[in-house]
Amino acid sequence: MASTDSSTNKISIGLLGFGTVGSNVYNLIKDQGLEIAQATGASIEIKKILVRDIAVPRQDAPPEIFTDNFEDILDDPDISIVIELIGGLEPAFDYITSSLENGKAVVTANKQLLSQRGFHLFKLAREKNTQIKFEASVAGAIPVIKVLRESMVAADLTSVYGIVNGTTNYILSEMSRTGAKYRDALANAQEWGYAESDPTEDITGKDAAAKMAILASIAFHTAVSLDDVACIGIEHVSSTDISYARNLDLTIKLLGVAKLYGNKINVRVYPALIKKDHPLATVSGAYNAVFLKGNSIDEIMLSGPGAGGIETASAVVSDLVSIIVRREPGAHENVAAWREMEFYPDDEVISKFYLRLEVKDEPGVLATIAKVFGDHNVSVESVIQKDSGAHAELVMVFHAVREASFRAALEKIAELSEVKSQPWPIRVEGNGNEQQ
Ligand code: NAP
Ligand code: HSE
Repeated sequence: MASTDSSTNKISIGLLGFGTVGSNVYNLIKDQGLEIAQATGASIEIKKILVRDIAVPRQDAPPEIFTDNFEDILDDPDISIVIELIGGLEPAFDYITSSLENGKAVVTANKQLLSQRGFHLFKLAREKNTQIKFEASVAGAIPVIKVLRESMVAADLTSVYGIVNGTTNYILSEMSRTGAKYRDALANAQEWGYAESDPTEDITGKDAAAKMAILASIAFHTAVSLDDVACIGIEHVSSTDISYARNLDLTIKLLGVAKLYGNKINVRVYPALIKKDHPLATVSGAYNAVFLKGNSIDEIMLSGPGAGGIETASAVVSDLVSIIVRREPGAHENVAAWREMEFYPDDEVISKFYLRLEVKDEPGVLATIAKVFGDHNVSVESVIQKDSGAHAELVMVFHAVREASFRAALEKIAELSEVKSQPWPIRVEGNGNEQQ
């Protein structure tokens, strides 16, 4: 396949979807055709593009290459690679399955699909002796999948963690940097093309959970699916929390954490408070950063643009190049989950927490709350009390504690008549808890 004469080696591609990423992939291939030909020895042509409605005028590509019928791509014997950029479970799953069954290679950025039905697709690709590549599904332009699959084979990884959602990182950064309102920051993220077509995927942490399932599967060679990842999003993080965090020299980030506890694995997504001098604290806007920690490598941090049309398109093209230059599908190509691992229970994880509570401004309230925590072996590290109009506000930071004990205490706290707000705790990273 890898010939140096690109004029005789033409590769035809079917592109599914012409949205934020799809249109950028088309333009990137057009603009960088010479570079791609030099790197692969092949000239690449996007022969057909699947869209929902061909009547919609589109400036970038000639109208005759658009189709609204997937069979036009599937049945075209010249098309050897299909790039899926429509997102969602169906019909993406059906299109990818049929493409692989027809022996076509596939590139996709669809983390929701991969984290729920990826293992079926990887198995099918192996059976059909073809490839499925998905660099763009995690951390945008950062080549973390390639690094995990190739460079970390002997790294004996113990944890993979970081910021893997650009939209929420952009929102939290803007709220913290400029005091922007949550809604305005989200609208900007949508305008910039960072958000999913349904942005609740981003906000609720589900997008990050899907990416962590993919990363954990590759890092630890075991099947981790979306359902195995507990996730908390940023919907309860308020500008008040952000400003308290600033006063405590902390910053709020949505973290994804996949970690081994002995021979068990735990994978989660949650908002966390981290020290301002931690490298993750400086990762702002739609940037992502992933830490890889292993017995043979100490720690490696990869960071860069985690979302956006052109950034993601560059990762799609990198997959295209690796498919063309290497036509041999190996076990690692297709994410062999070659071992089974038990999951380490969330309840047993030790974490530090921050908690802001609105309480009645009366004598004895603090003592009542402190007693509930004490009864559950939860130890308070610091408390700030502020008057906030009708109520008092307590901002508490706790010493590292077993999560089950903390949750049990919180349930009791929520039942107290003195407590006027729903308790939404935020983990505090970087001070003697499990990631460090
Ligand atoms: P998008 O802008 O919403 O584009 C999706 C495109 O697919 C739309 O143009 C849509 O057409 C089309 N489409 C949907 N269903 C279709 C169908 N059944 N047949 C034909 N076309 C269909 O989304 P995107 O941001 O490009 O994301 C595409 C994929 O990349 C998703 O899996 C996403 O998770 C992933 N991704 C995105 C980013 C990013 O920064 N945007 C980064 C990494 C990964 P209509 O316009 O008619 O709806
Ligand atoms: N919506 C995703 C994000 C796109 O904001 O990170 C990149 O996967």
